[in-house]
Amino acid sequence: MKTYKRVRSLPSEGEAGRVTPFVPGWGEREAARREVRRPAIPSGRSPAPPRIVICALLVAFAAIAALAAEVDTSSLPPASTQQGVTFAKDIKPIFDKACVACHSAEKPKGKLRLDTLEGTMKGSIDHKVVEPGNSAKSILVQNIGFIGDEDTWMPPPGNTNKIDALTKDEIGLIRAWIDQGAK
Ligand code: HEC
Repeated sequence: MKTYKRVRSLPSEGEAGRVTPFVPGWGEREAARREVRRPAIPSGRSPAPPRIVICALLVAFAAIAALAAEVDTSSLPPASTQQGVTFAKDIKPIFDKACVACHSAEKPKGKLRLDTLEGTMKGSIDHKVVEPGNSAKSILVQNIGFIGDEDTWMPPPGNTNKIDALTKDEIGLIRAWIDQGAK
């Protein structure tokens, strides 16, 4: 811990200049600011709402916006009923065909690797794309199901690699894999 010695002597001119820089008009502006905050004569109008109220309103609006932005997952193909779905056996072949051209070790798009289970579970640069047990909420499923923001649809429609969208069965299998815990 730093301890500060009490300085009894006045700071030298140079120091004083640094500590309290001279701002032209500061005094007047500060006085004007205080005047606005606490009017000397009651104006008859109610005072401005306290900051906490404004903050609460902002939070409420943000929450409403977030809810409105929530992706409608009702159009997703249903999860397959197949049991014992695993990455190695069932999912890797789909990813190898449709995803790894852009999501493998060299220059993975969005920093997301889909050539291994580890890479898939690690997710992209800033978030996970698979939520084990909840395929509808998983970003990866929303992307391949072509719901939400079009810029995130995967594989990107009209991509130069000419990779087609996944079929309903493939999406259903990926959903089953995630719902079963993404092993
Ligand atoms: C032609 C190239 C290409 C192909 C093929 C492709 N992707 Fe992508 N993918 C991208 C690009 C580019 C981004 C990054 C978008 C961005 O950062 O805005 C991306 C991002 C993603 C993301 C989002 C990462 C994040 O940060 O939210 C997911 C999930 C994803 N891809 C999954 C897939 C899946 C699954 C497949 C195969 C079915 C696939 N991608 C095929 C190019 C591709």
